Amino acid sequence: MFASNQPECHFSLVLISLLSCTTNQARLTVSPSSFQFFEGDFVSLSCEEDDSSAGWTLRRNTSKGQRTQCGDGWGTPTNSSCNISVMAPHDSGVYWCESREGPISNMVNLTVTGGSVILQSPVLPVMEGDDVTLLCKTKTTPSNLPAAFYKDGSLIRKQPTGHMTIQHVSRSDEGLYKCDISGHGESPSSWITVTGDTLTCLCFCSFQHSQCDDNLMTVFALF
Ligand SMILES: *[C@@H]1O[C@H](CO)[C@@H](O)[C@H](O)[C@H]1NC(C)=O
Ligand SMILES: *[C@@H]1O[C@H](CO)[C@@H](O)[C@H](O)[C@H]1NC(C)=O
Ligand SMILES: *[C@@H]1O[C@H](CO)[C@@H](O)[C@H](O)[C@H]1NC(C)=O
Ligand SMILES: *[C@@H]1O[C@H](CO)[C@@H](O)[C@H](O)[C@H]1NC(C)=O
Repeated sequence: MFASNQPECHFSLVLISLLSCTTNQARLTVSPSSFQFFEGDFVSLSCEEDDSSAGWTLRRNTSKGQRTQCGDGWGTPTNSSCNISVMAPHDSGVYWCESREGPISNMVNLTVTGGSVILQSPVLPVMEGDDVTLLCKTKTTPSNLPAAFYKDGSLIRKQPTGHMTIQHVSRSDEGLYKCDISGHGESPSSWITVTGDTLTCLCFCSFQHSQCDDNLMTVFALF
């Protein structure tokens, strides 16, 4: 096997996108997993890394400043996570993790609304063929209300329970989504980006194993 001369590395089969194999050495995770928040919500952001010595820093661009770091006027840093206990509309912007050496993680657009409706979609890479569930939520009503979903400005579906599942997503499902709940209002819009499976590759090196070195990673592109 490929691993025979690398005894210190524990090898396992991991299916992962080419993008994550080659460029994403850290992944920004958002908890709760959503691109949209209500004013006053709590969020915890973390840089999940396979090499903790890389020194990842969480940064953001908002209307209040460019490339500012967690703790620098916003957020409470704790190890590799950063909490914003009370989100405000000026916290809307692009968030990412950055290492001293330069590589950056995925970028996540967060939108904080002063309105009363949000569209929740998971902050995960969406691969072609996946099912994706969107939830239209109000700030004040705990139960799910009927909602209308829009893509690129056009009504695509009305759902009685506020959930919409897009099955087997393809590139044509990419776009700007929003929703509307009668009597409550409209959510902000968020992009849903679909990662193609044509460049799916196999990484024969387990990311969980700390001994794995980038040089040992073997990447195969399958077409
Ligand atoms: C953040 O803002 C800077 C300065 O305007 C810009 O160069 C950079 O590309 C922005 N980064 C992101 C991730 O939007
Ligand atoms: C931060 O990390 C240190 C050492 O890795 C650990 O001892 C500490 O408990 C962590 N703090 C929190 C709040 O997780
Ligand atoms: C940040 O949020 C996480 C998850 O809720 C929590 O475990 C952690 O203690 C928080 N840290 C700070 C400094 O508030
Ligand atoms: C973030 O939002 C801006 C403005 O809507 C858009 O131009 C940009 O492509 C988005 N970036 C990501 C990573 O979604």
